[in-house]
Amino acid sequence: MPQQIKQVGVLGAGLMGHGIAQVAAQAGYEVVLREVDDATLQKGIGKIEKQLARAVEKGKSSQEDADAVRGRIAGTTDYKDLAGCDLVIEAITESLPLKLEMWKELDAIVKPEAVFATNTSSLAVIDQAAATSRPGQFVGLHYFNPAQVMKLVEVVRALTTTEEAFETALQFARSEGKLAIPTKDKAGFIVNRLLVPYMLDAMRAYEEGVGSVAEIDEAMKAGAGHPMGPLTLADFVGLDTLGSICDVLFDEFRERRFARPPTLRKMLAAGWYGRKSGTGFYDYSGEEPRENPAF
Ligand code: 3HC
Repeated sequence: MPQQIKQVGVLGAGLMGHGIAQVAAQAGYEVVLREVDDATLQKGIGKIEKQLARAVEKGKSSQEDADAVRGRIAGTTDYKDLAGCDLVIEAITESLPLKLEMWKELDAIVKPEAVFATNTSSLAVIDQAAATSRPGQFVGLHYFNPAQVMKLVEVVRALTTTEEAFETALQFARSEGKLAIPTKDKAGFIVNRLLVPYMLDAMRAYEEGVGSVAEIDEAMKAGAGHPMGPLTLADFVGLDTLGSICDVLFDEFRERRFARPPTLRKMLAAGWYGRKSGTGFYDYSGEEPRENPAF
């Protein structure tokens, strides 16, 4: 029997966390959104408010509904406010030591029957589950960016996950209107295992002079029907996040297709993290993105 979820904790109000919090609140859950400091928290909440206002402008939501969604999200910088949550989803930086440190603190605070979930893109779920006192109640819930729009949630069963916790996570994702696809706890799960080498290969194609950045992107949009070209998508995911994901996948599988191409390594050294930093394969400082003149 799946557990009843009323209150959901979300850790991290960044690119993924703010979207995960919004989706849960839209589905009627009470949400506690935690960030490390108030400025970062307000930035995340500001993004949610902007999306809600846009939905009202477009006539997709009434002002009353948007206010109700906003009213269900409480921001905090204190882990103690997550004590009564039934489900806690982490969406912090893709770093195992940081995630483990965070779970250690939370494990002692959140009620013992609550389910913990990681939104990791690539790390094995078991490594986090085993570090808590509740390895049975630990799952992966992997959302896609933008979480408010993308239909899929990969629901990951670790070696230790109980049937009840897994069903709870599946039902939760479905209750948010998502397509919940179960996957094994294999680094990259289904989507990133396929999508990450594709983005890296687009970088190699650029390095080999097959086409320019814009030509590669336009070709994949027009030729394969993708909503974004692979280099635009890399900027959108975040080049730092992509770098961390491909390192984890490379460590796990030792296959060249997951290795950082030199272009990615150099862009990260330059502090170009894609759309979020204003510079990546494209320059985002103007009204419309334009190809980064460095390429
Ligand atoms: N938050 C909320 N809503 C958003 C949004 C956001 N950040 N971005 C776009 N939207 C909404 C818009 O409001 C619009 O809604 P409407 O149809 O109701 O008006 C709708 O999405 C379409 O947006 P736009 O018209 O502005 O732009 P597009 O049609 O170009 O769509 C896109 C934008 C949905 C981002 C589309 O380009 C797309 O699907 N891109 C591919 C995204 C993708 O592949 N994501 C997965 C990345 S991999 C990942 O996340 C895994 C991780 O582990 C790395």
